Amino acid sequence: MLLDDALAGAELVAGFDGSIVDVGSGGGTPGIPLAASLPDREVTLLEAERRKTEFLERWMEELPNLRVVWGRAEEQPLETFGIAVAKALAHPSTAAEWCLPLVGEGGAVVLWVGPSAEPERVALVAERMAGELVQSPPGFLVLRKTGPTPPGFPRRPGVAKKRPLA
Ligand SMILES: C[S@@+](CC[C@H](N)C(=O)[O-])C[C@H]1O[C@@H](n2cnc3c(N)ncnc32)[C@H](O)[C@@H]1O
Repeated sequence: MLLDDALAGAELVAGFDGSIVDVGSGGGTPGIPLAASLPDREVTLLEAERRKTEFLERWMEELPNLRVVWGRAEEQPLETFGIAVAKALAHPSTAAEWCLPLVGEGGAVVLWVGPSAEPERVALVAERMAGELVQSPPGFLVLRKTGPTPPGFPRRPGVAKKRPLA
């Protein structure tokens, strides 16, 4: 069930400090369940499609800790969140490239992944982007941000998908 799936990560996310961004939130997973289960944390739903953000905005009345931003990950201000989460955003190595610049040094990226995820590819991407793949529970890949975003990142919109780093 979708809700269980989203909540499975809540404990993991709660272990890292700072505000949370759900990148490519779509219909609101996992950001809305996270906002409901972590009411003292600010949760931003970042979504590239305007039509979807209009639907997401309706949740802001019920969840005062929720914000909605219409835009692409590659065009956001750098390093403004403590944690970036993403589920079914893109191939995990592309999702890692989009998410890492959004979090500050010491922050974390939590990717919900399926059994076909290739952790070694994600680890290579992380190395290029001041990140490190750390021990992760089944169904997740957790990256720590170990330094400032290197020059040249984020690459132009769409490039991470067309020409993945690994
Ligand atoms: C397959 S949906 C997954 C939605 C939700 N996370 C879920 O698990 O159901 C991927 C979403 O990511 C959005 N998206 C794709 N590329 C993006 C980007 N570069 N920045 C922000 N959102 C993006 C798409 O518009 C789409 O709504």
